Amino acid sequence: MTDERDLPRTRVAAALAADPGRRLRIQGWVRTVRRSKGVVFFEINDGSCLANLQAVVGADDETFEAAAALATGAAVDVTGLLAESPARGQRVELRPDRITRVGAAAPDFPLQKKRHSFEFLRTIAHLRVRTNTFGAVFRVRSALAHATHRFFHERGFVYVHTPILTSSDTEGAGELFRVTTLDLANVPVRDGAVDDAADFFGRAAYLTVSGQLCAEALALGLSDVYTFGPTFRAENSNTSRHASEFWMIEPEMAFCDLAGDCDLAEAYVKALLADVLEGCTEDMAFFDKRIAPGLLERLEHVRDSAFERMTYAEAVAALERSGAAFEYPVGFGRPLQAEHERWLTEKHVGRPIFVVDWPKEIKAFYMRRNDDGHTVAAMDLLVPGVGELIGGSQREERADVLEAAIAEAGLDPTAYAWYVDLRRYGSAPHSGFGLGFERLVMYVTGMANIRDVIPFPRTPRSCPY
Ligand code: 4AD
Ligand code: MG
Repeated sequence: MTDERDLPRTRVAAALAADPGRRLRIQGWVRTVRRSKGVVFFEINDGSCLANLQAVVGADDETFEAAAALATGAAVDVTGLLAESPARGQRVELRPDRITRVGAAAPDFPLQKKRHSFEFLRTIAHLRVRTNTFGAVFRVRSALAHATHRFFHERGFVYVHTPILTSSDTEGAGELFRVTTLDLANVPVRDGAVDDAADFFGRAAYLTVSGQLCAEALALGLSDVYTFGPTFRAENSNTSRHASEFWMIEPEMAFCDLAGDCDLAEAYVKALLADVLEGCTEDMAFFDKRIAPGLLERLEHVRDSAFERMTYAEAVAALERSGAAFEYPVGFGRPLQAEHERWLTEKHVGRPIFVVDWPKEIKAFYMRRNDDGHTVAAMDLLVPGVGELIGGSQREERADVLEAAIAEAGLDPTAYAWYVDLRRYGSAPHSGFGLGFERLVMYVTGMANIRDVIPFPRTPRSCPY
């Protein structure tokens, strides 16, 4: 007789879809235990899907004692017969003949009751993955990452890896985390300032805010590339849509203008929606029911309809005409605040909208100067519920115009010499964008806080784990 322990593991998702009559081995965590009339019911979840597999043990079964001793949170390894379930709402259940409690859960296991606030769950981020909501969020997050790679791969984009440690400030916004091995209790000083030359790299180094500048170099040789990596911003904004560490997808295309950039962004977002709506039906139905009623209908509508496009000047005019009471003033030359973005996409057009051609003063130095002399070929994609999901632009490909913009922005030209080189050796019009991955997960799941779509969030004054 073969040892039951040699039976390969079946994931709960596969067990729930399998035909009754098979012997299966399941490994997972006990979600609930119920005792009634000499029968023990317990549900096992292993993260493969939202639903649990119910196990039923009768008083006469030799596993009864082991089942009765189980408590919520325990890790178990169970072998048994998959049987047709008489209960409503499930096709099959497990009739265990071996139950091994691999790891007991101490009686103070914090996930005993059914519902907890997201605020509380953030304080136990190492355990919250064992709830329905967070299991679903992280599965959809994974599906979106796969859909991203599939989308770009199918279009012939090359996946490139750009540096995480960097010496340049891509966005020129000064929101950099410095990385140093200097002795902070005894910082070397030269001419009244930190002696960067004494630091690890012989110069100041930072965590990257964006892989864009290096992605541009790679696109001007590989044609179409994309990055998918972590980015860091020391932005002191404690909002529901800002994280200090977040993931960004940045495609960059040679021989592409702003209109082509918007086309790619629209196709990409729609492909992502189509993928999760088709592939994550159980989790998406859960978000629709429990987190954001109407979500499925909204996303299906967005998947199937054209995104709106308008210029920044038109957007500002619409905001001025709106008669809405905004906290921040509206006017040409001012950045759009979250409330303005939300009004435009939610109230004004009711679907995603590209805002293009922004005043150069409120955008990054690398964006291509338009012929009017005062706007740049920039685009932001605004989506309902989230606001800005994507920021992108056509890049300035003319060396002299770029050098002037670098000087105007007060940036150190020597630090950007290599970047100007790209315009001196075979320059070509090129465009790209950055999609904030956590904002995407928020948009797709309806989760309202960025802290609840990344496993271990980092925000100002908060870096546990
Ligand atoms: O608009 P941003 O700053 O654009 C760039 O970084 C460009 N270099 C991208 C490019 O053209 N390759 O950031 C891009 C996106 C935003 O639209 C937003 O979705 C997200 O990144 N983002 C953040 N997400 C979470 N927390 C933050 N603090 C974020 N800052 C930006
Ligand atoms: Mg932006």
